[in-house]
Amino acid sequence: MKKKKILIGVTGASAMLFLQSFLEMLAGEDVLLHGVCSEAGEKVLGLERECSFKDLPAVVKWFDEKDFTAPPASGSSGYDAMVIIPCSMGTLASIASGISANLIHRSADVLLKERKPLLLVVRETPLNRTHLQNMLTVHDAGATVCPPHPGMYLKPASLEDAARTFSWRLADQLGIQINERKRWGQEQS
Ligand SMILES: Cc1cc2nc3c(=O)[nH]c(=O)nc-3n(C[C@H](O)[C@H](O)[C@H](O)COP(=O)(O)O)c2cc1C
Repeated sequence: MKKKKILIGVTGASAMLFLQSFLEMLAGEDVLLHGVCSEAGEKVLGLERECSFKDLPAVVKWFDEKDFTAPPASGSSGYDAMVIIPCSMGTLASIASGISANLIHRSADVLLKERKPLLLVVRETPLNRTHLQNMLTVHDAGATVCPPHPGMYLKPASLEDAARTFSWRLADQLGIQINERKRWGQEQS
């Protein structure tokens, strides 16, 4: 079977632990990952996790956010899905209004027009009316809004465990089977 080709967008919202957890999970899977990190994403990643996007696992190629000649700018590049993790309110607004100001926005626009899965791990609290309206707009355009909420019912023992329960939810959305994945009610099945 053909490897899934997934584009990762990293923007400047808090919740970089979830990004690391997600990529660590995908490092053990048969997927091809490319990435784009915004300038603010690089800044927040450094502040929260003390690393650069270049140190993250699993992504084999990173494109510059200003490079509109990079493959993800075109629908012909054939990505199967895109995950923006974390997704800032600024990037959400750009996607909602179709403004392709950088390669992350443009790629998201491409995935929507090609009718491919686009998962947005939006992070902000509290949410204002504009944020909520933009989430509904991207939902209606075909994206899936996935706030980084761990499955507390699985009783995670640490922050890392909590982040992993959320990564499993993203894997479900992408149709990727994770062997160690715990599910509610699995003891009964
Ligand atoms: C430490 C830190 C945390 C931030 N957290 C958030 C956040 O959770 N959500 C958000 O929408 N913006 C957050 N911001 C602001 C964004 O980084 C800022 O709006 C930026 O312009 C987003 O650009 P981008 O979408 O191109 O990455 C944060 C900024 C900093 C410095």
